[in-house]
Amino acid sequence: MAAVRRASDPGAIAEAAEILRRGGLVAFPTETVYGLGADATDDRAVARVFEAKNRPEFNPLIVHVPDLAAARPLVEWTDAAQALAARFWPGPLSLVLPRLRDCPVSKLAAAGLSTLAVRAPGGAAARALLEEAGRPVAAPSANPAGAVSPTRAEHVVETLGDAIDLVIDDGPCTVGIESTVVDLGGETPALLRPGGLPAEEIEALTGPLARPGDPDTPRSPGQLASHYAPALPLRIGGGDPEHGEALLSFGPDTPSGAAVERNLSPSGNPVEAAANLFAALHALDRSGCTGIVAMPVPETGLGRAIMDRLRRAAAPRALVDPTDRN
Ligand code: TXA
Ligand code: MG
Repeated sequence: MAAVRRASDPGAIAEAAEILRRGGLVAFPTETVYGLGADATDDRAVARVFEAKNRPEFNPLIVHVPDLAAARPLVEWTDAAQALAARFWPGPLSLVLPRLRDCPVSKLAAAGLSTLAVRAPGGAAARALLEEAGRPVAAPSANPAGAVSPTRAEHVVETLGDAIDLVIDDGPCTVGIESTVVDLGGETPALLRPGGLPAEEIEALTGPLARPGDPDTPRSPGQLASHYAPALPLRIGGGDPEHGEALLSFGPDTPSGAAVERNLSPSGNPVEAAANLFAALHALDRSGCTGIVAMPVPETGLGRAIMDRLRRAAAPRALVDPTDRN
């Protein structure tokens, strides 16, 4: 079982960095979700990440760096990348760019693609760890492939504890939903995954983003229908919960009669709802109910990322190739 250290314990970050440099796996908190980190330049360490998550190897990982300067030797930097990174890093934004020919990142980390997703995450523990590690860190969300992302150290320990060396615990993630992924490799920047940074804020700098589903939007390997799925069946519905169903509610007016209820934000605040989403799904999964009914959230700002995750959690799982998830 993985050791767990509080981020504030003296020596915890140094120990985590040393484990990474030796090719080990460290789960660490970012402002979005907990990541399962490995030295991105070490093929064997990266392979262990795929193995631990049971993740198909063609699904590329995001490479984490402490700051903009550390991203530049990895990818072909563009004006748009400069503008977005200067404005939003450290923060919940991943940029997909062509990798440089002499980029030291393992080919396996990017699943053999000619592009690389890079991000400088927020959160003091993540930033200290990346500084101390002194090399790019590949980190998918620290959950088994296809399952709900972790927003607390306990979620990581429960689901992946046997497969990793150390978990750095810094309490609940403040944003709670994964980073927004933007592809800057094409003529028009494209939104590959709505996430913790609302698309509107990016568009204020770049102009309109191409959207998933637009004919010219490149397909992100991670944008598959069934994903972020709790173990229980989940449906999106506004009405009354059916017998035995748990209710994932939002806002002040919620239906009565649910066996168990978790309200993402009683005041109807999408930022608070995003921060609570995955912890609520983890909790309802363990509630003993027969299923989950989720109330829809208005699709503005972070509401879009929340509804994206809920639709994927609700998608028919039998129709999805189980190897095609992350
Ligand atoms: O907030 C986050 O992004 C978290 C924390 C740990 O940083 N990480 C995360 O990683 O959510 P993961 O592996 O669960 O999701 C990465 C997403 C996937 O949808 C993947 O397909 C996409 O990023 N991605 C990564 N590299 C890509 C690339 N080169 N081209 C297109 N999409 C890419
Ligand atoms: Mg993930």
